Amino acid sequence: MRFQVKAGAASRQRADCIILPVYAGGPLPAATREADRAAHGLLRALLRHGDVRGEAGETLLLPKVPGLACPRVLLVGLGAREKCDRKVFRKAMRAALGAVTRTAAADVVSYLGTEAVRGTDAYRRARIAVEAWHDVAYRFTTLKTRASNSQNKAPRQRALGLAADAADAAATRRGLAHGQAIGAAMTLARDLGNLPANICTPSYLVRQAREVARGNARLGVTVLDEARMRRLKMGSLLSVTAGSDEPARFIVMNYRGAARSKAPVVLVGKGITFDTGGISLKPGPQMDEMKYDMSGAGTVIAVLQAVAALRLPLNVVGLVPTCENMPGGSATRPGDIVRSMSGQTIEILNTDAEGRLILCDALSYGLRYRPAAMIDIATLTGACVVALGKHRSGLMANADPLAEALLAAGEAADDPAWRLPLGEEYMEQLKSPFADVANIGGREAGTITAAAFLSRFVGTTPWAHLDIAGTAWNAGASKGSTGRPVGLLVEYLLNR
Ligand code: BES
Ligand code: MN
Ligand code: ZN
Repeated sequence: MRFQVKAGAASRQRADCIILPVYAGGPLPAATREADRAAHGLLRALLRHGDVRGEAGETLLLPKVPGLACPRVLLVGLGAREKCDRKVFRKAMRAALGAVTRTAAADVVSYLGTEAVRGTDAYRRARIAVEAWHDVAYRFTTLKTRASNSQNKAPRQRALGLAADAADAAATRRGLAHGQAIGAAMTLARDLGNLPANICTPSYLVRQAREVARGNARLGVTVLDEARMRRLKMGSLLSVTAGSDEPARFIVMNYRGAARSKAPVVLVGKGITFDTGGISLKPGPQMDEMKYDMSGAGTVIAVLQAVAALRLPLNVVGLVPTCENMPGGSATRPGDIVRSMSGQTIEILNTDAEGRLILCDALSYGLRYRPAAMIDIATLTGACVVALGKHRSGLMANADPLAEALLAAGEAADDPAWRLPLGEEYMEQLKSPFADVANIGGREAGTITAAAFLSRFVGTTPWAHLDIAGTAWNAGASKGSTGRPVGLLVEYLLNR
């Protein structure tokens, strides 16, 4: 897909399809008014007759409107003008481009972004448009030998133009470039998530990380094998991979966009390529969804790709501890006690609480970089799905400014999170009679006790934990990886 900024009146646009906005209850947006005049009032008549009402996300495709240079017009509702905000705009944009994918139009020019929308500027509207395109055009068909239905067919569009007047052209171009970097990163995260565990192994993630870094002088990748992890005394991480035949890996992605002296942001992604629960075996139904248990890892690899594409003036380190959680003759048993890299001993009361066991050693490793901030991203607890559903990621942090920056970034990117508390009282639930800490804290506040466990491994470093168990993938009929929270994290890094 080619994205470009377009100048010129709608009526003279020679694309295969132009997208024009309409409001519920008027007035006619400037671009639509211009086209309507050229079409001798046809668009206004459709509104007057109620054939299109302008409701948010409503679309109407019109062929061969007389007086216009292009063969198709797609009218798109932005809702009532006074209620049109960023969320409505995103919804309308997605609906518009979704409708476009069902046409044969090869090049398309959108005038939606020419309307001022509350909570947006031309930059943001362009970004939303390009991100929306990546979203609606996404297909995961690499493992199908032929497209079984039209839903699986790749859309036929080749170019998307974003109309902007001279004053908005530069901002639109910037938004377009950022949208491309973010959209491509989300596509990568979704692909990695959707791939099954027999393909997306720890070694596969290594290859993907290397691929992302290839030819980029600012981005380096190092990979630690199990022998190296043993020398580093990552006994907690190694206890999770004990039952698996797939070798574990620890991926380090190092992006240098600022002076060496500048403390980096360290991102840590949970990379369990399949979570059976181990000896504390999970029940059968929906267990296939545990292929998504590396979504934190996919997010980190994708965010580093975006950071490199955007050439951000920051230092960012991505850490990906990755392995499978399998039962077997050499698997870790409930009651086993292991020593983490930090030196703390852990009583593993449930082998299904494995995410925190690989993350704690990765957090210890992350402290070596003396991070300005450390953020881990993990499909960590089913309890988070119960608490927040698929709408918001869970956020826990030991530093208010970091938490607030992440919450704000989530809102701005429409990839929101919600903060849950931490505190000594939750640590009580993790007491073990035999070791320094237990890896589970009982039924109550499961999302928070998981974060409380992690907090023991970050010292005083500003740290935040994103529990993405509910947001990383959709279940049910539209099952698939969402690419979240790539948007939140890139927004946060753009703001730094
Ligand atoms: N990967 C799961 C969390 C999960 C479960 C994410 C369902 C999305 C949907 C994690 O490793 C896990 O099994 N957590 C346990 C923790 C418990 C044993 C304390 C859970 O949430 O049940
Ligand atoms: Mn588990
Ligand atoms: Zn897990």
